[in-house]
Amino acid sequence: MNASPPTIIAIDGPAASGKGTLARRLAEYYGFAHLDTGGLYRAVGLAVLRQGGDPADSAQAIKVAQALDAAQLAGLMADPALRSEPASDAASKVAAVPAVRQALYDFQRRFAAAPPNGAPGAVLDGRDIGTVICPEAPAKLFITASAEVRATRRVQELQSRGITAIYAAVLEDMKSRDARDSQREVAPLKPADDAFLLDTSLLNADQAFEKAVSFISTKVSALAENG
Ligand code: C5P
Repeated sequence: MNASPPTIIAIDGPAASGKGTLARRLAEYYGFAHLDTGGLYRAVGLAVLRQGGDPADSAQAIKVAQALDAAQLAGLMADPALRSEPASDAASKVAAVPAVRQALYDFQRRFAAAPPNGAPGAVLDGRDIGTVICPEAPAKLFITASAEVRATRRVQELQSRGITAIYAAVLEDMKSRDARDSQREVAPLKPADDAFLLDTSLLNADQAFEKAVSFISTKVSALAENG
């Protein structure tokens, strides 16, 4: 049993900023658990789509989010369709509904308070981790990159999975998702006041990782000797 509370690393940023890759890598490096919170909103969006519903209909989204149990959530989070563009779009629509966010809040808080498998800490990545879910996290990072760089990365990612992608369409989708995520009233995408801003437009994954580790070592003394 670990006596001290888990160490939380909060990572936020827009789509394809590199935050997911960075979060997974940091979790592995420190031996922490990792939660991709975007997957939770994608799971709700996908479940609405699978029921033949409309993700823009908040009543339907709320009903689905409140009814999801842990086993269904785990199944949806492992579903390859979770990464599809329709699921991305549905996720950002259901994510704008306050009661949907509330329904997923406890799951995220529990993960941070008691990371799975007794891990001594957790890395959570999303849009509102540093501002709403874990404002007490000692290390907060906000990862950005230009929309053009992010669209290029997303096209490469889709192509590597054998999915045909048109750059202009991906860029357009990304910009409308960014606008929806940043302009919504509840938990909009924005850096916490004390977040470290990391623009990865001109960085590769290794460089972003090194910068993140050196920032974290200044914030969490127990992790300094690892860095
Ligand atoms: O990170 P990802 O692209 O998988 O997130 C999908 C969508 O889920 C985002 O566009 C955003 O609308 C929503 N989201 C959110 N809050 C989070 C994580 C994701 O609103 N913490």
